[in-house]
Order: sequence, then C-alpha cells, then structure tokens
Amino acid sequence: MYLFKRKDDLGRLLSTARKEGKRIGFVPTMGALHEGHLSLIAAAKENSDLVVCSIFVNPTQFNDPADFEKYPITIDQDVTLLTAAGNDVLFLPSVQEMYPNGLAPEMHYDFGPLETILEGAHRPGHFQGVGQVVHKLLGLVQPDKLFMGQKDFQQCLIINRLIKVLQLDVELVICPTKREEDGLAMSSRNLRLNPAERQNALHISRALNGIKAHIHDAPLKELSAQGIGELESNGFDVDYLEMVSIQPDGNISFPATPGTDPLYAVVAAKETSSGVRLIDNMQVN
Ligand code: PAF
Repeated sequence: MYLFKRKDDLGRLLSTARKEGKRIGFVPTMGALHEGHLSLIAAAKENSDLVVCSIFVNPTQFNDPADFEKYPITIDQDVTLLTAAGNDVLFLPSVQEMYPNGLAPEMHYDFGPLETILEGAHRPGHFQGVGQVVHKLLGLVQPDKLFMGQKDFQQCLIINRLIKVLQLDVELVICPTKREEDGLAMSSRNLRLNPAERQNALHISRALNGIKAHIHDAPLKELSAQGIGELESNGFDVDYLEMVSIQPDGNISFPATPGTDPLYAVVAAKETSSGVRLIDNMQVN
C-alpha cells in the first residue's frame, strides 16, 4: 500500500493511474477504523481499479473542541487493517497540508434546510466543516466513485447535495451500516466506551428495533416519544429521535404516518456516564 502525506505526491500517482484508464474509488475517513470502514474499502475494491482511503481528523467539523481532542487515533492499527484489506493508497495529510491558509471557511456551501435540522440543529457548523473537507478531498482524489456509510444518514444527504450543487463528476455509493453481533452500530466513538457503557449503548439499537417492531401499532410521534423515554430512563441525553423519509429532491421530510416510501428512525443521544454522543438510524417500514 502506498502512503502519502503530501497532496502533490498523491496527485502524481493518481494522475498516472487516470492516464492508464484506472477507475478510482475513494473512502474518506477519520481513522480509528473498524469493520464498517473495511466494508467500504471492500465495496470500493469491487467497483474500482484503484482504492484510495484518506485518514484525516478534520478540525473544522467538530463544533465541540473536547470531542475533537478525544477523537480516537489508532494510525498503526489502521495501516495494518488497510494493508490486510488490500487498500491501494492511504492519504494521511496534516492539518497544515489540508488547510494551508488556516481553518477559516473559504466558502459557504448551500445545503438548504438539511443543514439546520437533526444533526445540524445540534452541531452548528458541523456540515459546513464536512462540506469543506470533502470538497477539498474530492478535488485532490477526483474519484469516479465515493463510498460512504449509511450510519451517517444525514451526512450522506449533505454530500449528495454537495455533489449536485458543485456539479462534481463523482458517483456517491452508500453502503449499509455495519453492526456488532449484539446490534450496536459500529463507530470509532465506541472505542471511548468502557464495557458497562458499551453495554448501555445497546439501548440505542434496541429502541430503533422496538420502533420497527411496532411501526403499525401507534402514531409515529408516540413511537418516537416512547423511544426517547426508554433512552432517557437508561442514562441518555437524547438530542433527537425522529421518523423521517427522503424526498425526491434529497431533502428530509417528517411524515406523520408510515407511507410507501422508506421510513427511517434516526437518533442521536449522549451516553451520559461516558459523555459519548452516538448516532444511529434504521429503516423501520
Ligand atoms: O464520516 C467521516 O468520517 C467524516 O465526516 C468524513 C466524511 C471523513 C469527513 O471528515
């Protein structure tokens, strides 16, 4: 596996690959890799000739400085996992390499209403930071296909919108959420949970499964309220638990009753004893 820390070195290799007609697949990450990331690498390998993974803990997308400071970093293990997974190129830039002119935003992205609901309402500025770094990375890698995980439900919609608004020539491929055997959605943040907190975190996927099991038994508002109640009584601060659908224009709607469109329960909650904020989502109809 090639490892590049500099944009220029990455660019040289990729321009040769492009001239050779290779289709480039790209998996952007913030490291602390787990099976979920590796499933993205596997999907990229199946659908491309050359797979590029980036590891960059992007400071501009953390609205909470403590969350940024505590973000797990496991580079040696990540390199071992990526090599074993057959990843071709790892891009591991520094903050200076990605933001040579400082962290102030260079442009504002128009994400429409997606930016200020759910994650956006609780993490102001987060999606501008995600947009900024993904835009830069797409400019450097110029992939044919971009692979992202369904676990970051709203992030996928934001990137879909970024691609449309900027008319970027890349196909977004969304891969299913990977779960531990007991149902916990895989996340780098799980590394910050001790065994008891990790066990408690299971209430999140249980709440989503509970909603799915009873989707036709009660109004959606009632099901959300029940799920929130369950989480709160088990030591969570819930930012939101809502039932949503995706509109044809890529925005999110909040239906009152389940229809024929896919309906997703989306949740963000802080496990209070660890202070770790977890997100998850599940199709419930
Ligand atoms: O999902 C992530 O890990 C990050 O938000 C991303 C897409 C790599 C941008 O920093």
